[in-house]
Amino acid sequence: MREKIVAGNWKMNLTFEEGQKLTSEIVQMFRDENPAGVKLVLNPPFPHLYPVKKLIGDTANVFLGAQNCYDKASGAYTGEVPAAMLRSFGASFVILGHSERRAYFGEDSAFLLAKTKQALAAGLRPIFCCGEPLEIREADTHVAFVVKQLEETVFQLSAEEFAQVVIAYEPIWAIGTGKTASAEQAQEMHAALRAEIAKAQGQAAADACPILYGGSCNAENASSIFAKADVDGGLIGGASLKSRDFIAIAKSF
Ligand code: G3P
Repeated sequence: MREKIVAGNWKMNLTFEEGQKLTSEIVQMFRDENPAGVKLVLNPPFPHLYPVKKLIGDTANVFLGAQNCYDKASGAYTGEVPAAMLRSFGASFVILGHSERRAYFGEDSAFLLAKTKQALAAGLRPIFCCGEPLEIREADTHVAFVVKQLEETVFQLSAEEFAQVVIAYEPIWAIGTGKTASAEQAQEMHAALRAEIAKAQGQAAADACPILYGGSCNAENASSIFAKADVDGGLIGGASLKSRDFIAIAKSF
């Protein structure tokens, strides 16, 4: 039975007070409504990490995640944050390879693989993002495009390393646009990725690897997407900033 994971990517949002209010609401609702077998991950911006972790406390199945880490362990890299420091502040997961970081900060596969190895060495589980731009989807070369993103990164990992990885398929044309991939489109890609994982890492690894969908996933469409055989949850942006919507998504399996 694969893990069911719903992760909230806050992106570059929320003041201290807003983040504390959101986290308190989410944790209380999760405790009260207890979505069976679901792992909830909160991925706030760096300044929120410690206060959010304090509010999560020892709540079962609620985890802290970061939105990024550097590819070095420590040193004179002003402004950067290493994986081990994130772990020391209570993070269990880290988002890597998000299309916004690839686009705005030029993060290529070599850099992302180095970051992934740093995260794994520090004991963080990577939520590794992949996804195609609209022009690739329209050219019908989207599966090959996304598979190449994984071949250049997480498929290079050892079996032990890969066992810690969560994949997040986020079609770029669906991120923040309100234009969600259909459940069938999500299933097509997730099934294709799982078949490629089997080739690269073995069938057992493919069967175990959680593959999340991200891209305008919300309380209304999550259940149809999560019902698909190869969808194991979601990486949620905008809807994760509203406690009731985020918990509704967590209950959508
Ligand atoms: O990482 C999740 C994010 O890219 C999806 O954003 O707002 O379309 O749910 P959104």
